[in-house]
Amino acid sequence: MPTDAADPLSHLRTADDDDSDDDDAIIPAQPPSVIDQRIVLTVPAVDAPIAIQLAVDATPGCGGVAWPAGEVLARHLARRGALAGKNVLELGSGTGLVGLVAARLGAAHVCITDQAPLLQIMQTNIGINGLEANVSAAELNWGEALPNGLVQPDVVLAADCVYFEPAFPLLVQTLCDLTAHPPAQPEVLFCYKKRRKADKRFFALLKKHFTWTDVDDAERAVYTRESISLLALHRRPHHAPASSTPTSPTE
Ligand SMILES: C[S@@+](CC[C@H](N)C(=O)[O-])C[C@H]1O[C@@H](n2cnc3c(N)ncnc32)[C@H](O)[C@@H]1O
Repeated sequence: MPTDAADPLSHLRTADDDDSDDDDAIIPAQPPSVIDQRIVLTVPAVDAPIAIQLAVDATPGCGGVAWPAGEVLARHLARRGALAGKNVLELGSGTGLVGLVAARLGAAHVCITDQAPLLQIMQTNIGINGLEANVSAAELNWGEALPNGLVQPDVVLAADCVYFEPAFPLLVQTLCDLTAHPPAQPEVLFCYKKRRKADKRFFALLKKHFTWTDVDDAERAVYTRESISLLALHRRPHHAPASSTPTSPTE
């Protein structure tokens, strides 16, 4: 498939901007097939732009290509900087783009996680960016126990992880597990692209345990036009009932 070097994600932007809200479909429209390609994604950063080499391959699953909310979250991290010394955990990393940018911003350690079929492409992308020293890839299936020996993260990242309805309660469970030890609460940055009305069900589950706020971001007006929201999730005090209804990004 031809790739526009200036905008390698353009195929995704045009393919999945169909906000058809087809509630009969379990998953949204998928990007066209991409097999064993290499792209370079460059994100502007405080000092110098950060270029990430990315092996992309849809064979192991939809996460094998870079998704729009991942690009938005990567660009946000690069713009704000300030990850030096942090332990970062990314959920549903796919290619690992977001976590790799976090590592290039000086995070002490980044654990990029996904389901087993994605581990190979994540390892490849760690290797081709020379980030073996401070990035590791691990299997983390939402809803299952967190990996043994996981260091309590300072920052949890998730991009484009709301798309498959049966996984909604599993993802909420994992977010709860990662924020289960107050007062040491990680910052949770959750970048979401609205595709279907059914996404509301994810936020209905989420609001039992979290409130959220829009993250201040210079590009917000741009990605809002693509139905993308960048949220900071805040764990409700444990066992407290959800008394107020936060604004849903799906509304
Ligand atoms: C749409 S992709 C987004 C990938 C990447 N975050 C990005 O923005 O490019 C969603 C990712 O979530 C992962 N995923 C889906 N269900 C999962 C589950 N139950 N446990 C862990 N990861 C899951 C997929 O394998 C995939 O990599």
